[in-house]
Amino acid sequence: HQNMKPFPKDFLWGASTSAYQVEGAWNEDGKGPSVIDMKKHPEGTSDFKVASDHYHRYKEDIALFAEMGLKAYRFSIAWTRIYPNGTGEINQKGIDFYNNLINELLSYNIEPIVTMYHFDLPYALQQKGGWSNRETIDAFENYARTLFKYFGDRVKYWLTINEQNMMILHGSAIGTLDPNMKNPQKELYQQNHHMFLAQAKAINLCHEMCPNAKIGPAPNIAYVYPASSKPEDILAAQNFSSIRNWLYLDMPVFGRYNSVAWSYMEEKGCTPTIQEGDMEILESAKPDFIAFNYYATSTVAESKNNTSDKNPIGDQQITIGEPGFYRGVANPYLEKTQFGWEIDPIGFRITLCELNDRYNLPLLVTENGLGAYDKLEEGDVVNDDYRIEFLRKHIEQARLAISDGVNLIGYCPWSAIDLVSTHQGFSKRYGFIYVNRDEFDLKDLRRIKKKSFYWYKNVIATNGERL
Ligand code: BG6
Repeated sequence: HQNMKPFPKDFLWGASTSAYQVEGAWNEDGKGPSVIDMKKHPEGTSDFKVASDHYHRYKEDIALFAEMGLKAYRFSIAWTRIYPNGTGEINQKGIDFYNNLINELLSYNIEPIVTMYHFDLPYALQQKGGWSNRETIDAFENYARTLFKYFGDRVKYWLTINEQNMMILHGSAIGTLDPNMKNPQKELYQQNHHMFLAQAKAINLCHEMCPNAKIGPAPNIAYVYPASSKPEDILAAQNFSSIRNWLYLDMPVFGRYNSVAWSYMEEKGCTPTIQEGDMEILESAKPDFIAFNYYATSTVAESKNNTSDKNPIGDQQITIGEPGFYRGVANPYLEKTQFGWEIDPIGFRITLCELNDRYNLPLLVTENGLGAYDKLEEGDVVNDDYRIEFLRKHIEQARLAISDGVNLIGYCPWSAIDLVSTHQGFSKRYGFIYVNRDEFDLKDLRRIKKKSFYWYKNVIATNGERL
């Protein structure tokens, strides 16, 4: 571009977290257990019981966010703090905590962006079948009504469900799939249908109860590259993109099942049961924007029609193939993080442009970031130049996408502060702020500003002009 457009004046420069990864206080003040609390942890990684102790230190943390200059903070509400059993009696202490958190943010003019549900389904609902049970749709609607009632006067941006697509594609990772199920994949697509309905009801309720607020879905979206220009590879990329990406946005935006994804479900014998009236509900709900998490693109080739298709690539494991449909391959043009995740800033621009073309809605990036083994050096210094480089390259591409005409309203990298990674413990750090603890040794949990903190502060202060 010869004429680069600037970032919009009211651009939401932010950062993200989720409740179970940052709060700790897992069983305090009436909080009920979630599926995350009850899940067995991979050997050698921390559990989520104390996490970054944000529940007790949110004031100190928000003061640091304000010092960094954040215009927005994307966090999630723990359903089990509001309803310890998923439904039933409200836990007033949970309401109080999020009221205080929201008020604290607003006192610094930081816009709260609230995820209603980020993987931590109440365990009490899971015991009754979780998302396989249609009653969970009602429980979510009831929970949504409570959130809009108590916080809707101050929260202007709502996200329904974090990464519904990852919950379905990696069904056993989050603890919402009963491993004893007869046909797990069919069950997952039934759960998916129920989550779509829950989301649609929440969108409609939000529009009814909070006419000034905006609400949208928050899937993980990654452009899918074909391994070559071989037509079979292109077809494989289209297949995977429909199953991985478009299924989860065609529904909220257009109110219909993506046809390629549907025929995939038919082939696999896992189409969901749709009850009378479901499609009307799904069609009636219209999101105001699309929020999405972006870490890297995926690359796929033609299926070899055998189980070798299923070999995961690296640790990322996002592109696990599917015999007869596609095979995940590594992209030889991309570098990888210490954790084997591919790094693709240009893919970020490509993904933004593709979303803009397909859906023509405002876009909000709710996660993007680099997990690394940071080192605390003498004098409380963390030189995370690699993180700065990662973020700089992505912000450059975001600006190019804006110059391409994409309506990008905000960028909230993962994560505001160090927290427990969803799959790989505390040693895999993402934050601008270092939390002094190890995998198992909680130390003093003190907060230390990383080099990236000062860098991002300057990016925000110059509205993205100085990278
Ligand atoms: C996203 C999730 O999938 O990726 C976050 O929304 C998660 O909860 C993030 O932490 C990074 O993944 P991980 O496994 O490195 O923590």
